[in-house]
Amino acid sequence: MGIHSGRSALVTGSTSNIGRAIAIAMAAEGAHVVVSGRDEARGAAVIDSILQAGGRADFVRADLDGSSVRSRALGDAAWELTGGRIDVLVNNAGIYPSGTDAPIADDALVDRMYGVNVKAPFFLTHHLAPRMAPGSAVVNLGSWVARLGLPGDGLYASTKAALEALTRSWAAQYGPSGVRVNAVSPGVIRPPEVAAGRFPGDPLMATAPARESGAPEAIAAAVVFLASDAAAFVHGTVLDVDGGRASVHLAAHG
Ligand SMILES: NC(=O)c1ccc[n+]([C@@H]2O[C@H](COP(=O)([O-])OP(=O)(O)OC[C@H]3O[C@@H](n4cnc5c(N)ncnc54)[C@H](OP(=O)(O)O)[C@@H]3O)[C@@H](O)[C@H]2O)c1
Repeated sequence: MGIHSGRSALVTGSTSNIGRAIAIAMAAEGAHVVVSGRDEARGAAVIDSILQAGGRADFVRADLDGSSVRSRALGDAAWELTGGRIDVLVNNAGIYPSGTDAPIADDALVDRMYGVNVKAPFFLTHHLAPRMAPGSAVVNLGSWVARLGLPGDGLYASTKAALEALTRSWAAQYGPSGVRVNAVSPGVIRPPEVAAGRFPGDPLMATAPARESGAPEAIAAAVVFLASDAAAFVHGTVLDVDGGRASVHLAAHG
C-alpha cells in the first residue's frame, strides 16, 4: 500500500524526464496515473514501465497549445479514464528553448511559450480543480530561473514566474474547498539519457551547493510529498528542489 493508493493522478508532459519520473513515482505509491504528452511512442514506454512494476496507468495524447479547448479535452479524457476522480493534478508540461529572449523571439515563439507554460495549466486547473474532491492537490512546476536573472532567459523565466504566482492565487481560490495548490521549483535537472556534463544547463550548477545537476527522481519525490496527506497543512508554497541554486552562489571549482 503506497501513500497514494486508491487515488488518481493526471501528470501533464509525462513522456520525458521530470514528468516521466513523477508519473512513475506516483504509480509506485499506488496512484492510477494518466500519462500525457504529444509523443505516443514515448508515452507507451512510460505506461509499459509502470505496468511492469505492477502499477496502473493510461495514456492520453494531448498537444497543449494553450487553447482552452485542448486543456479541457485532456481534463475530460482523464476524468473519464479515472472514473470521474482526479485527486492529483501535476502541471508539468513545459518548454524551454534556449536563448529565446528578445531580440530573437517573434510573436509565434512568445505565444507558444506562454501557451504551453502558462495558458495550458491555467485552463486545465480551472477546469479540474472545481471538480476535485476535498483532500486533492495540484502541483505546478516552477523553476529556479523565475527568481535568479540570467541573460537571454527572461521569456522562459517570466512564464515560470507566472505559474508560481498562479500557484499562490489558486491556493487562495481552491484551498478553502480542500484542494491544496503548491509548486516545486527545480534546479537544472538532467534527463537520465544525457551523460553528466553534457546537458546544456550543467555548468549553471557548478556554483550551487550541490555542484551538479539533479536527477528527475528528486523532483518526483517532492511532488509525491506535496500531493500527499503528509503535506495537508502546506498551501501556496513553492518548494525549491534545486541543489541550492536559487539561494546560494559559491566560488567556481578549482
Ligand atoms: N529540466 C530542467 O532543468 C528544469 C528546470 C526547472 C524547471 N523545469 C520544468 O520542469 C518541467 C519538465 O521539464 P523537463 O526537463 O522534464 O522537460 P522535457 O524533458 O523537455 O519534457 C517536457 C514534457 O512536456 C511535454 N510537452 C511539451 N510540449 C507539449 C505540448 N505542447 N503539449 C503537451 N505536452 C507537451 C513533453 O511531451 P511530448 O514531447 O510528448 O509532447 C514532455 O513530456 C517543465 O515545466 C520545465 O519548465 C525543468
